[in-house]
Amino acid sequence: METVVSGIRSTGRLHLGNYFGAVTNFIKMQHDFNCFFFVADYHSLTTHPKPEHLKENVKQVLAEYISCGIDPEKAILYIQSDVQEVTELYLLFNMNAYVGELQRVTSFKEKIRKQPDNVNAGLLTYPTLMAADILIHKADKVPVGKDQEQHLEMTRNFAQRFNRIYNVQCFPEPVAFNFGTELVKVPGLDGSGKMGKSEGEGNAVFLSDTEDQIKKKVMKAVTDSGPVTPGAQKSEPVQNLFTLMKLVSANDTVSFFDEKYNDGSIRYGDMKKQLAQDINKFVSPLREKIDEIIKDDNLLKSIASKGAEKARESAKKTIKQVREIIGFLNA
Ligand code: TRP
Repeated sequence: METVVSGIRSTGRLHLGNYFGAVTNFIKMQHDFNCFFFVADYHSLTTHPKPEHLKENVKQVLAEYISCGIDPEKAILYIQSDVQEVTELYLLFNMNAYVGELQRVTSFKEKIRKQPDNVNAGLLTYPTLMAADILIHKADKVPVGKDQEQHLEMTRNFAQRFNRIYNVQCFPEPVAFNFGTELVKVPGLDGSGKMGKSEGEGNAVFLSDTEDQIKKKVMKAVTDSGPVTPGAQKSEPVQNLFTLMKLVSANDTVSFFDEKYNDGSIRYGDMKKQLAQDINKFVSPLREKIDEIIKDDNLLKSIASKGAEKARESAKKTIKQVREIIGFLNA
C-alpha cells in the first residue's frame, strides 16, 4: 500500500470549505492507503502562540478531525511534536538546503510582508520542516491544496539531493494528490470566491458554529436584487447560495428554489432560511460530537499517544537508515 502523509495546521476551526474540500478526502483515503495525518504544531510556533492557546488549538483540531470521521484505528493520527525524529531529519535537511532557494519561496516572501517584525529562521526553513514531515515516513502522496505545491516541489528537491549526495535511493519523490479528480470548491457567503476564514467574519460557516450563529451568517449572505427576466443566468452570489444548498440540502429542495428562480418568483429570504436550516441539520451532529470529544481529555490523550507510538515506529526506521547513510559513528 502506498503511503500518504498530510499535516494539518493547528490554527482556527474547521469550516464547511475545509470539510468538503479536504477532510472528506482524508476520510476516503484512510481505507485505501497507509495514512499518516498529523497536527502541525511545530509549524505553528513561527507566530509565537501562547502555551495555553497552542494546547487549545491542538485539542480542537484533533477533536474536529475525529468527529468528522478520521478513524485512529485506520489512519495514524498524531501530533507532530510527539515525534521528535522529525526534528532530527529537519536538522539534517537544513544542512543541504540553500538560503537562496529558501528565500525565494513565495510563502516566505508573503510572511516577510505580513510579519516584518518577526522574520524568524523558522519561517525561512518552513519548507525543510515540511519535507521532514513528509519524508520521515517516505510518503508517496501528499493530499494538499494548490498553495502547497511549491513546498512539495522543494520536498522533492531535498529528497533528490539527499539521494544524490550520498548516492542512495533512500527517499521517494512525493507528489500532490487528491482523491477523485473533482475537488469541491465551496463558496463563501460574501458573494464571491471561496469559503475561508481570512475573508472576514461571516464568510465561513464553522462546524462548531451554533444554530444561531449559522442563521445570522446565512441571512446576511450577499445576494442580488432578484432575477431580471425569467430564466436569466444566476449572478455569482446567488449561484454560490445554490452551490452551498447542493452540498447540504435534499435534491427536491434545490430544484424547488431553482424553479422559483427560473420563473422569477424566488424570495431570497426564504431560500436563506431553508439553507440555514439545512446547514444546521448537517453540522449539528458534528458539532455535538466535537463538543463531547473536546471535553474528554483522556480520550484525546489516549488517541494522541497511540498515534505517536505508531508514527515513531515508522520515523525511527527512517532516522536509523539516514544516520547510517550519513556516517554517524552510532547509527
Ligand atoms: N504547510 C501545510 C499548510 O499550510 C501544513 C503542513 C505542514 C503539511 N507539514 C505538512 C501538509 C506536511 C502536508 C504535509 O497547510
